[in-house]
Amino acid sequence: MTPAKNRQIVVAEIPKGKLAPENFRLVESPLPAPADGEVLVRVRLISIDAANRAWMQGVTYRDAVTAGQVMAGLAVAEVVDSKAPSIAAGDLVFADTGWQEYAILPARKLGKVPKLEPMTHLISIYGIAGLTAYFGLLRIGDPRPGETVVVSAAAGSVGSIVGQIARIKGCRAVGIAGGKAKCDWLVQHLGFDAAVDYKAGALPKALKEAAPNGIDVYFDNVGGGILEACLFQMNNGGRIACCGFISAYDVASPPAGPRGVPSVIVFKRLTMKGFILTDFYAERDKAIAELGSWLKAGNLKIEEDVIDGLENAPRALIGLIAGENRGKRMVRVG
Ligand SMILES: NC(=O)c1ccc[n+]([C@@H]2O[C@H](COP(=O)([O-])OP(=O)(O)OC[C@H]3O[C@@H](n4cnc5c(N)ncnc54)[C@H](OP(=O)(O)O)[C@@H]3O)[C@@H](O)[C@H]2O)c1
Repeated sequence: MTPAKNRQIVVAEIPKGKLAPENFRLVESPLPAPADGEVLVRVRLISIDAANRAWMQGVTYRDAVTAGQVMAGLAVAEVVDSKAPSIAAGDLVFADTGWQEYAILPARKLGKVPKLEPMTHLISIYGIAGLTAYFGLLRIGDPRPGETVVVSAAAGSVGSIVGQIARIKGCRAVGIAGGKAKCDWLVQHLGFDAAVDYKAGALPKALKEAAPNGIDVYFDNVGGGILEACLFQMNNGGRIACCGFISAYDVASPPAGPRGVPSVIVFKRLTMKGFILTDFYAERDKAIAELGSWLKAGNLKIEEDVIDGLENAPRALIGLIAGENRGKRMVRVG
């Protein structure tokens, strides 16, 4: 049965500086029935990602989000009605449904996911967070036992898992996060070897104390000054996995920099490589199995930050950029 009405969060205006609630509008609209080859889904959990904000800045690895459209966002959703043979009502899927209660999408744009409990794990450990941490660290960072791995935005969804995988692989894990409470949590709860509060100032000195043997792998979620500080403390032959640059997502014009590019990269024979999670989708099943085995064995802790209500999605994203979250933030829609 197709419900008559849909609730959607629409982009009212592309932000010129910091993202604000006024950049979004909640609307109610009629819901048509799916056409041939299409599927109607009910959105259950929306993944709130720093990248959502980056998509509003222009074309990235996907089309830009523009004013007037439903805010883009990845979600776990349940199939309500299907006009495609490959998908049936009741199936659970992962897709870019956008921020809305229901979506009608071509069947080819949906990825079936297993029904597991808790469903939130499909967004956290088995979703973007876990897979980005897994592939970014292991395939781009290439950590070896005994090495030092530093990760920024360490108390966030990707970073909190990166540090734990580094420990599993026999490395020293150092997190960079904002505030003492997050740093204490990284060490005391997640088992990081050390954590550095970048908001406390004197980052280079604090980093040197936390990583006295230098940095072999830097997993960069932030860019800017934190990337620069890490760059100068890299060991010869070190690897920098460029995952994101959140310090430049919510500003009118990103600052120039960092210093040390390319000089330090040359002198220290560093490898700096960007990646997008989807580059590794073909290997997803293997990654999910391994992440699951670490979780079961108690070697990996997953922190989920679930906010209820579609209407709260804008403030969930604004708060994520401000550093409100620990672990994977998501919005429960229904
Ligand atoms: N390449 C890929 O395929 C891929 C996939 C997923 C995510 N990512 C990237 O991974 C990074 C993390 O994204 P996420 O969605 O998982 O968010 P998240 O890490 O759960 O949350 C973002 C965190 O970033 C920190 N932060 C915000 N502004 C900062 C700044 N100016 N300097 C330092 N830290 C800052 C905040 O924590 P503090 O309190 O510590 O400041 C905040 O909690 C982003 O760069 C994102 O683009 C990339």
